[in-house]
Amino acid sequence: MGSINRALGELAALVSPIGQELLDRLARMEVTPETELRVGAQLRREYPAELVRAALGQHELRRRAEAKFSRAQRMYFTRDGLEQASSEVVARYRARRFAGAIRVADLCCGIGGDLLALADGREVLAVDRDPLHLRMATLNADAYGVAGAVTAVPADVRDVDLAGVDAVFIDPARRAQGHRLRAGDSEPPLSWSISVADRIEAVGIKAAPGIARDQVPAGWEVEFIADRRELKQAVLWSPALAASPSRATILPTGHVLVPLPGGEVAHRAPGAFLLDPNPAVTRAGLVEDLARSLGAWKIDPRIAFLSSDEPLRTPFARTLRVLDSGPWDQKALSPRLRALDVGSVDIRRRGLAGNVEDLHRQLTLRGTRAATLVMTRVDDRPWALVCIDPDPSHQDPTTPQQCRA
Ligand SMILES: C[S@@+](CC[C@H](N)C(=O)[O-])C[C@H]1O[C@@H](n2cnc3c(N)ncnc32)[C@H](O)[C@@H]1O
Repeated sequence: MGSINRALGELAALVSPIGQELLDRLARMEVTPETELRVGAQLRREYPAELVRAALGQHELRRRAEAKFSRAQRMYFTRDGLEQASSEVVARYRARRFAGAIRVADLCCGIGGDLLALADGREVLAVDRDPLHLRMATLNADAYGVAGAVTAVPADVRDVDLAGVDAVFIDPARRAQGHRLRAGDSEPPLSWSISVADRIEAVGIKAAPGIARDQVPAGWEVEFIADRRELKQAVLWSPALAASPSRATILPTGHVLVPLPGGEVAHRAPGAFLLDPNPAVTRAGLVEDLARSLGAWKIDPRIAFLSSDEPLRTPFARTLRVLDSGPWDQKALSPRLRALDVGSVDIRRRGLAGNVEDLHRQLTLRGTRAATLVMTRVDDRPWALVCIDPDPSHQDPTTPQQCRA
């Protein structure tokens, strides 16, 4: 209790007028690892040492939080809280799936990454058993002008009365005291979160992107969300909110891919273009569905690369032009790359064992082009492809659209 009271006291000091003055000053200063000691010494001449220490720590977290929040400079974080917080772009997208709800419970609200989006236009019951996180969640909701819609409850989520709530969002902890919990573990456990749907029909649960498919109950949807090509999270949607068994969502554009049932996708040797599906598509098990929607083929029954002879444009995959394609022959690689005027390669390995760094060191390249060297399998044979980006400007679509694939 002593340490939590101390942390709450530190936060109160930061929120006080003198703390705000100090944080504002820091925001205008150049604080780097090289200047931090000097800046600290200078500020300690004017402010209490404890306040300076707390403000420097908060300032550093705010800087890091700018990658997730547009108003990071007005927010408050703990290291664990920031690490686990949903980014604004993901939280806003996800909150839209609660559009019909009037009163939502944000269980395990943390520092409020999801809360600031959930509370935009509806009432939210925000619950966390960590009083520091709960206080920060309220302050952060205030930074986004939505604190009036929030009722904050310091409690274990398992003890909370959900009467009057018509939808629930749960983001269980996957870290505690600065450490990651074991892969697949969370607090509260996934089984408890799923059981909430026995009381309230509409439930969304944030889960690790590596979640095993057999952990998704029948009738629930599993959605994999990527921010551009970075897989961020999985979300389980209870049957009342589920729209399809699985879904891949690409942000910030909001492109959505759902299953397109159909015949088996053919597999044959690569054509003129190689398509590298977004990790959200791969995790959602929608590679074949994407192939069907595009008229592309697989290069191997078990490998998640597609191919086509047309320069297909899709928000769900990176399209590369194939310069060279053939069975894997490591000795011939450097001469092949030099003949193609390739001076640098990014190596992409899928389905083929081998150390990418060793291979990088062994290649002797001379040339002007940057290429992607793909180590993979074609019809179960080790294979190498040398590819280039046909037009980098087309790879990051900006128009939202719902795609059925
Ligand atoms: C992953 S973080 C939540 C992140 C939040 N959605 C965000 O975007 O900022 C998990 C939070 O769950 C809280 N927590 C873990 N177990 C809990 C429990 N049984 N009852 C209440 N809160 C709990 C932790 O204190 C932590 O703040």
